[in-house]
Amino acid sequence: MNAAAETLRLFFALWPDTELQVKLAAWARQAAGRGRAMRRENIHLTLAFLGDTDAALLPELKAIAAEVRVDPFRLLLDRIGYWKHNRIIWCGASEDPQALAALVADLRARLAAASIHYDPKPFVSHVTLVRNAAGLPQAPAWIALKWEAQDFALVGSTRVEGRVTYQVLRRFPVKAE
Ligand code: 2AM
Repeated sequence: MNAAAETLRLFFALWPDTELQVKLAAWARQAAGRGRAMRRENIHLTLAFLGDTDAALLPELKAIAAEVRVDPFRLLLDRIGYWKHNRIIWCGASEDPQALAALVADLRARLAAASIHYDPKPFVSHVTLVRNAAGLPQAPAWIALKWEAQDFALVGSTRVEGRVTYQVLRRFPVKAE
């Protein structure tokens, strides 16, 4: 009787505005070498990765995220790095604001309380800029960028003509009250 359950590949992320994405993407293109620079519109910072999720859970997920309370905060993206284990070049903050850790903890605790599965690996704050990179190549000097986080997003990931495409399904304001 029931149609096969529809699943969506989902994650929660901080989503930079276009201006910041443009700056990050431009740097990524110049640093990519033989690696694959992230496309401008895909650049984000993952907070919790849910993976394949029953689409019927969407309303509950949106309700859970809307309950999260944390002060708006600023990230200073002042570090660039390379991880050999997954061959990515990333940028991040040498000091994450306490509010970012609080956002991740609150969101993940609410997901866990609702028995919604997410990747339990500890949060390591980073913005992926280049995939399949052999290392940090000669690239223009990194210039620290400020990111005022006003909201976070629930995002769906699909493949369109072989390309990973992310769709922001809903944004949730970061707010204390
Ligand atoms: P990455 O950029 O470090 O690869 C969408 O796949 C986003 O979720 C990516 O930013 C990816 O991080 C992140 N992510 C976190 N855990 C993941 C997992 N278990 N599988 C795939 N992506 C994951």
